[in-house]
Amino acid sequence: MEEQKIAWDDRYAIGIESLDNQHKKLFRLVNRLYEVEEHKITKERLKSILYEFSDYMKTHFHEEEEYMSSIGYDKLQEHKALHQELIDYLASVINKPAKLDIIKTKMKIVAKRALIDHIMNEDTKIKLFLIEQNLEDEIIFDITDIVAGNE
Ligand SMILES: [Fe+2]
Repeated sequence: MEEQKIAWDDRYAIGIESLDNQHKKLFRLVNRLYEVEEHKITKERLKSILYEFSDYMKTHFHEEEEYMSSIGYDKLQEHKALHQELIDYLASVINKPAKLDIIKTKMKIVAKRALIDHIMNEDTKIKLFLIEQNLEDEIIFDITDIVAGNE
């Protein structure tokens, strides 16, 4: 069970603390899917895991968009469109009845695309923008957090 989880890696930290914490929470939420024992999972439990992840992903995207807008991020519209694609893809997975193992596999794809690839390829551009604009004071790494491996 444990080995199926999608592990957070400090390489995924973009250095903007509030956003990093939200990303970590998304990892925790999706991993709930791989924590429950297969024969014990009920439809209700499965639904609540998927919907909590989906709700929080939307909340997070919204907050990230507000943040980008607050710093005058120049690629806000493109970034928003990417968020919408991820939301649509997730909705297509959640709304389609499927067996648990299929859902788990599809959610791995969601996690890979929405969490890992999106963070590494797109969210890191927000940090580059801050550096370009000399706003790098916004970039705060909480060293103690990284050393202790806390969430
Ligand atoms: Fe994003």
